[in-house]
Amino acid sequence: MKKLLIGAHFGGHDLNVSLYDGKNFKYLHDERISTVKNSNLKSLDKALHYVKNWIGSHGYDVSDISSIACTIGERSGVNSFPENEQTLVSKKNLFVDIDCYQIDHHYAHALSAFPITDTTNHYVNDGHGDWHKYLSIFKKDILTNYLKEGLHGNSFGWLLEELCEKLEIGTWKDVGKLMGLIGYGKIDYEYIDKYKDQDLENNHIFSHAREFLRYTYDKGIFDQTNEFFHSSNYIATLHKLYEGKFLNYLKKCFKETDVFSYSGGIAQSIVLNTEYKKIFPNMITLPHANDSGLSLGCVEWLRRFNQYDPIDVGPFPFIQADEHPGDVSDDTIKKTAELLAQNKIVLWYQGHGEIGPRALGNRSILMNPVAEKKDLNRRVKKREWYRPYGASVLENEYKEYFDLDWVSPYMLYNSKITTQFPAITHEDETCRIQTVSENHEKYYSLLSEFKKLTGYSVLLNTSFNLQGSAIVGKVSRAMEVFDKTDADVLVLGDEIITK
Ligand SMILES: [Fe+2]
Repeated sequence: MKKLLIGAHFGGHDLNVSLYDGKNFKYLHDERISTVKNSNLKSLDKALHYVKNWIGSHGYDVSDISSIACTIGERSGVNSFPENEQTLVSKKNLFVDIDCYQIDHHYAHALSAFPITDTTNHYVNDGHGDWHKYLSIFKKDILTNYLKEGLHGNSFGWLLEELCEKLEIGTWKDVGKLMGLIGYGKIDYEYIDKYKDQDLENNHIFSHAREFLRYTYDKGIFDQTNEFFHSSNYIATLHKLYEGKFLNYLKKCFKETDVFSYSGGIAQSIVLNTEYKKIFPNMITLPHANDSGLSLGCVEWLRRFNQYDPIDVGPFPFIQADEHPGDVSDDTIKKTAELLAQNKIVLWYQGHGEIGPRALGNRSILMNPVAEKKDLNRRVKKREWYRPYGASVLENEYKEYFDLDWVSPYMLYNSKITTQFPAITHEDETCRIQTVSENHEKYYSLLSEFKKLTGYSVLLNTSFNLQGSAIVGKVSRAMEVFDKTDADVLVLGDEIITK
């Protein structure tokens, strides 16, 4: 009997797939194996071939597939969501002999919350989803409010993408770099006061941005002779303005005590996340908030539709079906802690990779937070000087070093630093932090051993990749990064390799 359910994000970028047969679950973000960051399918004609190969590697055959749900809607240029913009699911004849369902882009984001929460309230804020919706609110899993381009102005995500290009920082893939500028920026509160009461629903961000540019130049309030600081002020002010607008909109949709999940590309802004969390303490931000989580939402929809048992995804968030190097021993953990205490730069590859764009201690580059950030930039990461680094800290000790009122297991919030850690301290004295609980056994042990040697349980933690490439998902790729950079140590499972 055909039992296999497949969830897939075929449209746009960040190809990812999930499978569930009623008992076993697998997930893969393609870039971890293909090594091409944000990889996509190129053509939908290749979809079944891709699925066939992937499920084949887990012992299944196409004849095992009961149905497929995927995000290939209007957003992806596939004209097959004919009913109306509130249609969240439709049936599609994409594969011969296999039932195929299209899941609305934002609906898939919302349903992807299931590994963390059973709430049916969801907030999605994105570049844009299907039907040009850029913000959606779901209650009891039903779309209740949304904003769409054209009708309600334009998406904040797209504005950031356009700014990336205008400021010659990069493309849509580099919006995260813009966020690094915020810490250097001077906020123009006079400008914010002028526009803060304008509703998001009646706001046209692009024309607004142009007006803002004119305003700042005419007023001469920013240092126009220094392009970097002018850009920083600009980004910081716009970000602050929209922080207020999004909060006002959310307050119309949810009570402050409501539990709701938060996903979509904008949910990667830790500055916004932190401000939201102060007002909505029960908000749950997803580590796979970007499109890398969409196949989870799709397979969860099929699971409900077919009335299968709830999915146990395994040791979340370490659910990538990538290459496992074998377990690390206590002795290797102790030796690694010693090397870190000697200010060595360590490439740390353990277990299966984490879902989402953040390295959370299985695919990480680690360094003592009192060591030199510029060495890490120069020797390994090759990244822009103005971008900050995140940090991991033991969950039961984080308040000794950081001023944050809640735990941050997925590195999705920032916090003021109260201790001198130059390598992880941003210009505005904040840091993106990950609080590590005992559940994350090996990484927790490493932080604990490091503390025995240094007196503090904090490590700089950044993603294990080459600049511009995907986070590593294969042992051979980890070795390649070690060879191509000037990192001191590679720890592959239980093996320590030094230069
Ligand atoms: Fe999205």
